[in-house]
Amino acid sequence: MQGNRSSTELAGDAAVGVAVDRSGRAEQLRWLTETTRGTPMGDLLRRFWQPVALSRELAPGKAMPVRILGDTLTLYRGASGKAYLLAGQCRHRGTVLHTGWVEGERIRCMYHGWQFDGSGACTERPAERESVPPPQAAIAAYPAQEYCGLIFAWLGEGAAPAFDLPRKAVCESGQPRIVATREDWDMNWFQQIENSLDPTHVSFAHRTLRVGAFGAAVTNGIPELSYIETEAGLEQTATRAADNVRKSDWTFPNNNHVVVPGLRPDDPWIDFIIWMVPQDDIHATRFTLYVMASHDAQANQRFDEYFQRYGSYNAAEHRQELFLQARGPEEADKLAGLISAQDYLAQRGQGRVANRADELLGRSDLGVVTLRRLFWRELQALREGRPTKHWRRRPDVSALPIQPGDQRIADV
Ligand code: FES
Ligand SMILES: [Fe+2]
Repeated sequence: MQGNRSSTELAGDAAVGVAVDRSGRAEQLRWLTETTRGTPMGDLLRRFWQPVALSRELAPGKAMPVRILGDTLTLYRGASGKAYLLAGQCRHRGTVLHTGWVEGERIRCMYHGWQFDGSGACTERPAERESVPPPQAAIAAYPAQEYCGLIFAWLGEGAAPAFDLPRKAVCESGQPRIVATREDWDMNWFQQIENSLDPTHVSFAHRTLRVGAFGAAVTNGIPELSYIETEAGLEQTATRAADNVRKSDWTFPNNNHVVVPGLRPDDPWIDFIIWMVPQDDIHATRFTLYVMASHDAQANQRFDEYFQRYGSYNAAEHRQELFLQARGPEEADKLAGLISAQDYLAQRGQGRVANRADELLGRSDLGVVTLRRLFWRELQALREGRPTKHWRRRPDVSALPIQPGDQRIADV
């Protein structure tokens, strides 16, 4: 058993020239799952714009805490509607800032009233009897940007890169319906990432609880897998039959873009664009955009009403029902909730942090092996002070193919 596991994994690792020995293995695996400040992955993820909240979670004049990469930060929206992201705690004596007051474009700490602007500068210390606070009273501030109903932030050092890599052509052409959702799951982020490049699971996991439109369309056929590295990440092709080819446009380091069936057989397929973001090492958020090309009035209305009603399903809030009673989301929640419930069962079933030291990989895990070696290559470069790849948005991603699949289930 040990021999099998090692040879399969070593073959995958050796193929990209990543030196592997058993003593270093545990450390390499830790690189994938540990994301707090100062860890290799934590530093890597801070080099990319990351979604931190849904736009609709934050009304003007309100503040909220954001948990990301092991840090708790303060997100607030000024009277103008602009979102700002600051350090989590006040520079004075460290109480959390999100419990304070938003005043215009600034936020005031509720403890002793220090006020900060959106650049992190301290603009007032009422009890200090001074005209201008000293520069050392400033706190960290991070660039924030809104896009398609998500608030993104850049948490790295120095100047932020252009807001380009998170953008998606499908969101910007025509006048699509776009819904943003979030789910906060009680597991390490890398289980979510690996799942996104594991097309074999679709043939099984998405047929548990009940077979929804997605499981039916993709079928239970076992796919042949291939991967190519693109300027943005990886393109995955899973071929189940000549007319059942499924592609994923995966963007480094934590975004996947696939298509899923619409709510009715005649509705357009929906682009499913997901970012998987560590909150800390045992919690991660799935921020998802559901994008449907505008269609006839009924399909549009169906899409809008479905997400109004079911767009807040969070599988982690149903852990006992899912694991102990095999009870999924209600029958009418035919798409997003069901897919989430199925994925959550598979990923949370691996534990809070999957034990990769004892896994037994095979040929169907090519995506997982490809993914890990890509991360190890980039992390190793980062650690050695060498340049990492300059990832760029793909200029032209043609529409992802849909699948005819099984006879579509009536009225799914
Ligand atoms: S802790 Fe914020 S003003 Fe004192
Ligand atoms: Fe899945």
